Amino acid sequence: MDKLIAYYSWSGNTRRIAEIIHKIVRGDIIEIEPEIPYPTSYSLTLDKAKKEIGEGYKPPLRTTIEIERYDLIFVGSPNWWGRIAPPVASFLSRYDTSEKIVVPFCSHGGGGKQRMIENIKTLCPNSKILQEFVVYGSNGDDVENKVSEWLKKLKIE
Ligand SMILES: Cc1cc2nc3c(=O)[nH]c(=O)nc-3n(C[C@H](O)[C@H](O)[C@H](O)COP(=O)(O)O)c2cc1C
Repeated sequence: MDKLIAYYSWSGNTRRIAEIIHKIVRGDIIEIEPEIPYPTSYSLTLDKAKKEIGEGYKPPLRTTIEIERYDLIFVGSPNWWGRIAPPVASFLSRYDTSEKIVVPFCSHGGGGKQRMIENIKTLCPNSKILQEFVVYGSNGDDVENKVSEWLKKLKIE
């Protein structure tokens, strides 16, 4: 199966998980980049994200891929206001994942996954969505083992 790992990360935690997944499963890895990056200030990013999520805004992306090449797509996002980050919503709206396998992974700051998986299911109505990996921050040294156990359970490793 041809695998893609696509993720957005503002402060690096989701990127760390993406890189661990990539080390194990190989395939291609891509960072989902909005055309206009979010501010480096946390509070400005909080405000911008709140507004965008409230309005259902999906920012244009700099990232382009040939989705047809992949059968299995890992999709990673930080928890932003209980939802997936808007660039990830843009990615899933722009690229058709129908009939493909989608594997979510998310990083949060204490709230857990909240509505993130619901968001992904709504944006990928015709995909097979596997059990997600959810982590607080990027959760220390043990995270590599946790990712590996999760992939074994999914029989992807
Ligand atoms: C705009 C914004 C909104 C956030 N909202 C939440 C939230 O609702 N619940 C939560 O648990 N963490 C929230 N966080 C914390 C992030 O989910 C957490 O720090 C995550 O590990 C960041 O991943 P990243 O380093 O890949 O960006 C928020 C962070 C930002 C920047």
